[in-house]
Amino acid sequence: MSAVPDSLPGISRLGLGTVQFGFDYGINNTSGKVKYPQVLRILETACRNDINFLDTSRNYGTSEDVLGRAFRQLGLEFIVSTKLDLPDDFRELSDKEIIQQSKTSLHRSLEALGLDSIPIYLLHSYELKTYRNGLIWNCVLEEMTKGLIRYPGVSISGSPREAEGCLGDPALRVLQIPFNVFDRRLERAGIFKKCAERNIVLFSRSSYLQGLVLMEPDKAAAKVPSSKEFMKKLGEISGACAVPPKELALRYVLGKKELASTIVGLDSPEQLQENLGIFARGPLNTGLVEQIETAFQGTPDELVNPALWKIQYPPPA
Ligand SMILES: NC(=O)c1ccc[n+]([C@@H]2O[C@H](COP(=O)([O-])OP(=O)(O)OC[C@H]3O[C@@H](n4cnc5c(N)ncnc54)[C@H](OP(=O)(O)O)[C@@H]3O)[C@@H](O)[C@H]2O)c1
Repeated sequence: MSAVPDSLPGISRLGLGTVQFGFDYGINNTSGKVKYPQVLRILETACRNDINFLDTSRNYGTSEDVLGRAFRQLGLEFIVSTKLDLPDDFRELSDKEIIQQSKTSLHRSLEALGLDSIPIYLLHSYELKTYRNGLIWNCVLEEMTKGLIRYPGVSISGSPREAEGCLGDPALRVLQIPFNVFDRRLERAGIFKKCAERNIVLFSRSSYLQGLVLMEPDKAAAKVPSSKEFMKKLGEISGACAVPPKELALRYVLGKKELASTIVGLDSPEQLQENLGIFARGPLNTGLVEQIETAFQGTPDELVNPALWKIQYPPPA
């Protein structure tokens, strides 16, 4: 197969999640899709503060188009991670049609983002990676040989089985995972260590669980009932050490050295500034890390898997 790129991209430890630029998103969101002038301010703030990495997808509404327009307007460059999109009914298509749709998705991403080559290109799930004996994944690898993709990978749910399945493939170079104070399934299963050993770029999302971690416990419980006891416990830890839950959540994730980057979704430059301030305070001390890891050992799937929250994305028109 294709040559493996020889060096890993130097992606910033803090990255931007940009689904919020493409449609209304987030369990606690009230402001809707981020307006274009705000996107420009977020990207400028990011660049000024040495953030060079962002995550998007062909299926995050207008996110790629907005980003491409902003890159051109501001003359900025980011290391972009994007994802392949297929029509909802792709399972009814022939192999040939799926390959055609996959190539179309890649070319649309390249065009929208104004790039000759996508730095990190992901499939949205392990199911897509293994679909029809790797039909879509093999298409991605073939496009990589043409130089249209640098690092191929998969964005997975928190299932260790899926992560193991991905790690069994030497062609895989990047893994995007959910990871936060409530969700350590993959770290506990040894996946962080294995990625480091195999030189796989590991980056995380969902430090704030879409914003759930930042909600009042009662409000959070109204949306995700199983969150109540865990949010209460997080509040207790926060009260005892006088560190706000938001800061505990982000500094906890930023302390994991095996993560090349952590992407945080944003609605405003002010949120980015605040997250940068938190980032600057560095990882939590060992005692706090231990408290968090002891308190949240057995969190239920309903809490850590937003797909079970029954919120529809993109929202119905
Ligand atoms: N591959 C996948 O399956 C997948 C799935 C989901 C997301 N993603 C990616 O991951 C990124 C992150 O999304 P996520 O769902 O994991 O969300 P997240 O980063 O855990 O949380 C993002 C949300 O937290 C809130 N927030 C951030 N900074 C804040 C601050 N300083 N103060 C107050 N609130 C703050 C905002 O919500 P409010 O609206 O409440 O302000 C923001 O939308 C996405 O943008 C996307 O790129 C990937």
